[in-house]
Amino acid sequence: MLQLARRIGRAKPSAIMLIAEKAKQLKADGRDIISFSIGVPNFLPGDHVYAAARDALAKDSGQYGSNRGSDALLDAFLAHIREVGLDGYARANVATGIGAKHVIYNICEALLDEGDGFAFATPYWTSYLDIAEILDADIQLLPCPAAQDYKLTPAQLDAALAKKPRVFLFNNPCNPTGMVYSRDEISALADVIAKYPETWVITDDIYNRMVFDGLGYHNFVHARPELRDRVIFIDSLSKTYGMPGWRVGFMAGPEVVAKAVTTMNSNHITNLPEVVTAAAVAALSGPQDIPVAKCAEFQAKRDQVMAALSQVPGLVCPKPQGAFYVFPDVSVAFGKSHNGVRIGNDVEFCAALLEAKGVACVPGSAFGEPRAIRISYTCPTPQLAPGLQRIVEFFAELK
Ligand SMILES: Cc1ncc(COP(=O)(O)O)c(C=O)c1O
Repeated sequence: MLQLARRIGRAKPSAIMLIAEKAKQLKADGRDIISFSIGVPNFLPGDHVYAAARDALAKDSGQYGSNRGSDALLDAFLAHIREVGLDGYARANVATGIGAKHVIYNICEALLDEGDGFAFATPYWTSYLDIAEILDADIQLLPCPAAQDYKLTPAQLDAALAKKPRVFLFNNPCNPTGMVYSRDEISALADVIAKYPETWVITDDIYNRMVFDGLGYHNFVHARPELRDRVIFIDSLSKTYGMPGWRVGFMAGPEVVAKAVTTMNSNHITNLPEVVTAAAVAALSGPQDIPVAKCAEFQAKRDQVMAALSQVPGLVCPKPQGAFYVFPDVSVAFGKSHNGVRIGNDVEFCAALLEAKGVACVPGSAFGEPRAIRISYTCPTPQLAPGLQRIVEFFAELK
């Protein structure tokens, strides 16, 4: 019998999409469903972005473009990251891809050989594990439960890096927890990283413009500029500009890594489409009022979610300070029943909640934390309060 490659046996479809599909099905069946499942920003970019795309279409060159990204896009990205204090990078330090997911995949492929150590914290964004498994890396998970606010401690990082992984992947603000590391926390972790020069560091910081409470965005390179030789910063238009379907992601880091990503692009995709590139330049260089307003809106929604969850006795929920997720530890519900349906774990919890109340959340096991569920709260504002009310009722009805 003809065989597929071994790596395909290790590749899995996204667990998040499975619950989203189920919610879609119930909606199609006429059920009143409120979705807190997929991590989409749920807004569209400004008119200037569409105008730039239309203009590019009118002037279409019909040609292949640069493997790295057009000069205009690289320059717009360099100016964009200077605004968050990442300066001193040139075109040779940056590269683009079809979304941050593609850029991260390319970087991992460029840095990791089979069996190489790959360390990251749990809870993690699902694709980290999926990518690591496809590449057959030696995965080192660093558990960060709710009891430690889902944050990695310097001592944990020290113990992990002492094992000399090839790559340490860090995510700040974090999906699924919404946690954001303070300046002091980043500085303490950067001090540990400085001790271990044989490890590359990927900082997936695509939510860096969605930080609340005046906490600010901080990076290892801010704390220790000498780390720029091995820290690779990841960014994306998806969440900040309401453009997940446009598929534009970026990296900034050492020239050798940007060159490797460019080479991977030349073999996988050749270039980002011209119309998408023009829209991306407009998003990065044009008015920033939409992202700023959305950040304020998400902070207010975060407060609304936290206020609702505080009504549930025994629920543990560290307060997120960025992105648009809340990640409560719902294990207080395990072993109880809802309308006779027993809830033994996070998957059964989400299934029962969807069935009984029509609210879709993602089981925490999709992110390596089976005691929790992820609430993505970017739904239209009028749906948020009723959706939260249904969750509170669901808890109150447990026996
Ligand atoms: C932490 C994190 N990194 C990367 C991505 C991928 O972003 P993109 O749409 O640019 O591929 C996501 C998307 O959900 C994410 O949450």
